[in-house]
Amino acid sequence: MAAAKTNIAGIPLASYIFNASGINDSAFEELETIANSASPAIMMKSCTLEPRKGNDEPRYAHLPFGSIQCMGLPNLGYKEYIKFASRLKKYKKPIIASVAGLHPDDYGVLVEAFQKSNADLIEVNLSCPNIEGKSQIAYDTSLSEGILAEICKIGKKPLGLKLPPYYDSAHQEGMAELIKRFDISFITCINSIGNALAINPETETPMLKPKKGLGGLCGDYIKPVALGNVRNFYEIFGREKKKVSIIGVGGIKSGSDAFEFLLAGADAVQIGTAFEREGASCFKRINRELECILGKKGYKNMNEAKGRLRYL
Ligand code: DHB
Repeated sequence: MAAAKTNIAGIPLASYIFNASGINDSAFEELETIANSASPAIMMKSCTLEPRKGNDEPRYAHLPFGSIQCMGLPNLGYKEYIKFASRLKKYKKPIIASVAGLHPDDYGVLVEAFQKSNADLIEVNLSCPNIEGKSQIAYDTSLSEGILAEICKIGKKPLGLKLPPYYDSAHQEGMAELIKRFDISFITCINSIGNALAINPETETPMLKPKKGLGGLCGDYIKPVALGNVRNFYEIFGREKKKVSIIGVGGIKSGSDAFEFLLAGADAVQIGTAFEREGASCFKRINRELECILGKKGYKNMNEAKGRLRYL
């Protein structure tokens, strides 16, 4: 059977499916659970300069086909995650730091610190939708450009961008231009669909308290949007010589979902909502289902299927 081995920015991964930042990855014990699971990498919660309690509760709600959340970046502050990266080294899995600035200047400090850490890759989150009064940076090309100019000067570990969903090819082309100009090695798409609203008709209130109920939509609802974003970036970067790895995320809960992302061109995928629902056993199950599909279809390796979506 084809083993679903892959790599991101040249860093090998033993399988295709690992955890998305933000789900059960804030505390050290949670990261150890991921380390002890079949996840081929250990992704950490997006961290800020200072520790944060996050938004008021309720800030997470299950929906029939996914979830809505407005956590507000609860995290222990970057210094803890630097220490965690050292303590996680013994698991011999790539460690991925995720950094989120509350101010554009924060990104330089955060990236510099993780460049000197035991993390193997750094995912730069330019798309958190859940901070009151802050917009998603990756929707603003000139703000993003300033940050990339700063962070790409520092260190040698591969940098990636966590991107929001784009709904127009021109916006993806604009972001791709920036990514090509700077030394960005991977992208993760997509973050949750920001500013969604779930209403409880019984109580006549939003399901969430922060931001007047607005939160990031996750799960099945967003899979087609995520696939569209992965595919369009795959097409755009396919025209270039420089390889930018693409990590897909959004509504993956089965091997068949992961296979769709592989066909669209994803080099690896992350699991958020399904990990929250099922726990860390999801990584083994989904990867096994994916390998089964590859085997049944006669693919000998991942590359034979990667990006090979056939147009009608
Ligand atoms: C949070 C949400 C996100 O979508 C993200 O990328 C980072 C943090 C949060 O609310 O904690």
